[in-house]
Amino acid sequence: MKVRKAIIPAAGLGTRFMPVTKAMPKEMLPIVDKPTIQFIVEEAKKSGIEDILIVTGKNKRSIEDHFDSNPELEQNLQEKGKTGLLKMSQEITHLGINIYYTRQPYPAGLGDAIARGRSFIGDEPFVVMLGDDLMMDKVPLTKQLIDRYSETNASTIAVMPVPHKEVYKYGIIEPDSEIAPGLINVKSFVEKPEVDKAPSDYAIIGRYLLTPEIFPILAEQKPDKGGEIQLTDAIDTMNKTQRVLAHVFKGTRHDVGNKESYLETSIEYGLKHPETKDALRKYIIDLGKKLEEQN
Ligand code: UTP
Repeated sequence: MKVRKAIIPAAGLGTRFMPVTKAMPKEMLPIVDKPTIQFIVEEAKKSGIEDILIVTGKNKRSIEDHFDSNPELEQNLQEKGKTGLLKMSQEITHLGINIYYTRQPYPAGLGDAIARGRSFIGDEPFVVMLGDDLMMDKVPLTKQLIDRYSETNASTIAVMPVPHKEVYKYGIIEPDSEIAPGLINVKSFVEKPEVDKAPSDYAIIGRYLLTPEIFPILAEQKPDKGGEIQLTDAIDTMNKTQRVLAHVFKGTRHDVGNKESYLETSIEYGLKHPETKDALRKYIIDLGKKLEEQN
């Protein structure tokens, strides 16, 4: 069956970005001039996704506004002859992909957010795309997962090796055998293991292709110690009755969910952005010299 639908959960509190996230969604934080959620929607579009459900929560209205039209702004740009900016604004509204919204009333975990998409997804395979991870590769990671699914018909989770000391931050897989290059049969999925108990260094990154059988499992899933329903736990349960595979991502992942990595990502994009690259490059070189002198 064709994979046409995606869920983007965006109802988290974004506490790692306090205070900016007190009243503003972290999904609207810009990488230079584009909100992170727009990168995710563009990846979905490039991967052939037709319908997206964004799961939002309180203080998230600006996400809906961003993908909506803004007649006042457009009229102003039109009158001033700023046709480039006008086109840019209109393109965001007419991305050629349908966006729907639902709300998660309490931030009860990623699993609970995905469970909100049950009737939207119905009986189809679908992808989950997390806004914290920006993925760069020739073929978008979401498309890579869809291609795997078309060969195997199995749920497939994107993974990547991470430094061993960081495994406690991720869902980690216990690999079984490699059934094709970069495609792994998985024994179990463990959410945020202690460093000395992690079954591997392969971390789940923010793209999942799931079959709809995940929904009845999520509905029965008990919250963890922190009161959150974890998607990783539901995937581990599903893996006991139908195989769930892991696809190793070989491209570049930018984690924009924490401050340090967010700043690094912004600099890297700024060094590619036509309006900022030259000045930023010069600034970084000069700053590097100054910092050297201070040492
Ligand atoms: P994170 O744990 O990375 O995001 O969840 P968070 O909770 O917003 O951030 P911190 O840890 O407090 O800084 C991964 C993704 O799942 C969504 C988040 O919006 C994020 O995109 N999520 C998480 C929900 O939609 N609902 C939840 O209850 C939890």
